[in-house]
Amino acid sequence: MGHVCPWWLGYVLASPLRRIFQPQERILGDYVKAGMTVLDVGSGMGYFSLWMARTVTESGRVVCVDLQEKMLRSLKRRAVKAGLEARIEVRVCGKDNLGINDLAGQIDFALLFAVAHEVPDPLGMLSQVQKALNADGACLLAEPRGHVTEAEFEDTVRLTGEAGFYIIDRPAVPRSRAALFGKH
Ligand SMILES: C[S@@+](CC[C@H](N)C(=O)[O-])C[C@H]1O[C@@H](n2cnc3c(N)ncnc32)[C@H](O)[C@@H]1O
Repeated sequence: MGHVCPWWLGYVLASPLRRIFQPQERILGDYVKAGMTVLDVGSGMGYFSLWMARTVTESGRVVCVDLQEKMLRSLKRRAVKAGLEARIEVRVCGKDNLGINDLAGQIDFALLFAVAHEVPDPLGMLSQVQKALNADGACLLAEPRGHVTEAEFEDTVRLTGEAGFYIIDRPAVPRSRAALFGKH
């Protein structure tokens, strides 16, 4: 398990300047559609969550889960400012418990962006996400190239198999190592 991202770094990660190298539509445009229920695990201050909330439209919903209340408080403020608060639910979780048992089989798409390397029990987290996905659901795992070696990423990919996922694709995500999964 690596360090948990300090809360103040959340402001940097949520900056619109990040769009220069990680534009949300390029990374998520193939997966997130109107009407979907999506899950953002380790959402931080919502760089991807707000874009997903716009994309799912008023008929969809985004559930954002994070360990740090400060991240979610800022996310909520940003959601209110953008007029998207009705589509975004925030949940403070425990380090080993995402608190999403009530979502079993309801999630169309789950995003795990730059979070798996911070989690003490990645298999436990992946298993909880797997249960939350519906039968046709997909999960995008992306880890920062700067912090996570190829070998470490492949270790996490192996765990996805144990958690009941199969690999659909290895999409190119800027500055990241990434894989897209479906559910067995
Ligand atoms: C590097 S930030 C990435 C934030 C966001 N996904 C993004 O790409 O902008 C990692 C986030 O994961 C959260 N996190 C760390 N450990 C976690 C855990 N065990 N469960 C849920 N969230 C966690 C941190 O609080 C932080 O907000």
